[in-house]
Amino acid sequence: DWDLGNWIDIMVEEIRQKTGDDRVICGLSGGVDSSVAAVLTARAIGDRLDCIFVNNGLLRLGEAEEVLEQYKQLSLKVHYVDASKTFLSALAGVTDPERKRKIIGETFIRVFEKEAARFEDAAWLLQGTLYPDVIESGHKGKNASVIKSHHNVGGLPEDMKLKVLEPLRDLFKDEVRSTGRLLGVPEAIVSRQPFPGPGLAVRCLGEIDETRLDTLRRADAIFREEIVSWEGYPSIWQAFAVLLPVKTVGVMGDSRTYSEVAVLRAVESHDGMTADWVRVPYDILDRTARRICNEVKGVNRVALDVTSKPPSTIEWE
Ligand code: XMP
Repeated sequence: DWDLGNWIDIMVEEIRQKTGDDRVICGLSGGVDSSVAAVLTARAIGDRLDCIFVNNGLLRLGEAEEVLEQYKQLSLKVHYVDASKTFLSALAGVTDPERKRKIIGETFIRVFEKEAARFEDAAWLLQGTLYPDVIESGHKGKNASVIKSHHNVGGLPEDMKLKVLEPLRDLFKDEVRSTGRLLGVPEAIVSRQPFPGPGLAVRCLGEIDETRLDTLRRADAIFREEIVSWEGYPSIWQAFAVLLPVKTVGVMGDSRTYSEVAVLRAVESHDGMTADWVRVPYDILDRTARRICNEVKGVNRVALDVTSKPPSTIEWE
């Protein structure tokens, strides 16, 4: 048990020493790790840090706007890139999960590289690598987050010629959250549930297009809206909706419907490696299902995922 306040002071000093007069760039994802890494680094070197936030078109309802607003309050220098069209056209017609991930990873690198080129005097790339990422990748070299990086916001080409700055690499997730709180990062960011780099692409099964993404976004927003006020909510690792490319028959008023299925997934976990499905109260499930069928065009059936990890994974793809 160590003093994180003290750790912050030491790390701020270390970042200053390391970077000297150099400029630093980083990719922000809206998540806890990249946000805390950026705020910590900004405390050390101020506006010599430039942050790039790429909207890949696979974020949740209202998420890009929310995240930008939160970053504004943290007075980070954020360069916003809306690359939605680039990502969606690269994904058109693709259904294979691994292909989706690969395309998204590669597209991210292309988009980020192009943006980063505008900061040609940058010498460092800041990454929100945590201790478990370092362990998982099995080595402590320069690209410590190799295993995750190919599908993470930090996943960048080796030839970028930037030195890597990883101030959080000794911390666990809960310590990153505490550090964020000490640095004044808003609770909305600090207590954020994990969200995969490939975003809604791995929750929108089958072909991805604007219409199906919109359907998924609405269903997902309703579930999260209904579950957030439950007393058990704080112990949830992730709660979200999945859209299946399967149509089933339903009835609305006195006419027949033929629409897709939304699945609700809520899990508890410590590190994402194993997980148990959450026994969400029936009344919350009931309200969620009714609202989704009433309010979301394109869905006439709601199902609940009651599998743990293993044998299932948390995400469906
Ligand atoms: P799975 O689905 O493998 O997910 O049980 C375990 C945890 O990791 C998250 N996840 C990802 N995070 N990029 C990320 O940054 C990814 O490509 C990715 N895939 C899964 C998932 O949300 C869960 O918390």
